[in-house]
Amino acid sequence: MTDIVTIRPITYDDTEDIIRWRNSDYVRSRFIDQRLFTKESHEYWLKNFVETKKVDQFIIMLDRKSVGSVYLRDIDYDKKEAEFGIFIGEESARGKGVGTKSAGLILKHAFEVLNLDKVFLRVYEDNAGAVKSYEKAGFVFKGRKESITVNGAKREVLFMELEKKDFEKR
Ligand SMILES: CC(C)(COP(=O)(O)OP(=O)(O)OC[C@H]1O[C@@H](n2cnc3c(N)ncnc32)[C@H](O)[C@@H]1OP(=O)(O)O)[C@@H](O)C(=O)NCCC(=O)NCCS
Repeated sequence: MTDIVTIRPITYDDTEDIIRWRNSDYVRSRFIDQRLFTKESHEYWLKNFVETKKVDQFIIMLDRKSVGSVYLRDIDYDKKEAEFGIFIGEESARGKGVGTKSAGLILKHAFEVLNLDKVFLRVYEDNAGAVKSYEKAGFVFKGRKESITVNGAKREVLFMELEKKDFEKR
């Protein structure tokens, strides 16, 4: 891949893109929280979670184009852990290694800047692309699985995690 992937902190100016990406059927159907995003709900999130550092959120750039977002949420600075989340909203940017690369960048930030010990995530078992990209980034499935009901259908959720010591070995 010759395109350059970087991440930069999210701003209020990204709101329109975030709403469009996160509300698209492709992305929304792969998330546990399926509520539709609005300008108000996203600005509430920025003000109450991102600005207060409970969440550290970035925009994924492919060359100079914004294509998605990657973040650490529910950051627990005492337990030194956080939950990872990602979505690439621009269809043309999916399946080219951008997700794996962005995960690597935010994990480096999590372990080296925020000094966390562990990053975990939840993913639908049937989201093969996401599971594969998480494995490539170093996340490991340690056997924890839960069934949840979404829109009346039962879906399996896998928990994956990556510890700082294992990230450093890579
Ligand atoms: C999940 C997501 C972030 C992965 O990013 P991506 O850039 O598309 O994935 P990558 O290109 O890094 O893919 C990593 C691997 O998975 C494979 N892959 C990608 N999409 C796949 C799919 N739908 N089915 C099977 N394998 C797939 C790739 O081929 C690649 O493997 P390879 O290097 O051996 O070829 C992205 O597809 C996305 O945003 N999806 C929608 C939202 C979402 O599912 N978010 C996660 C919610 S938990």
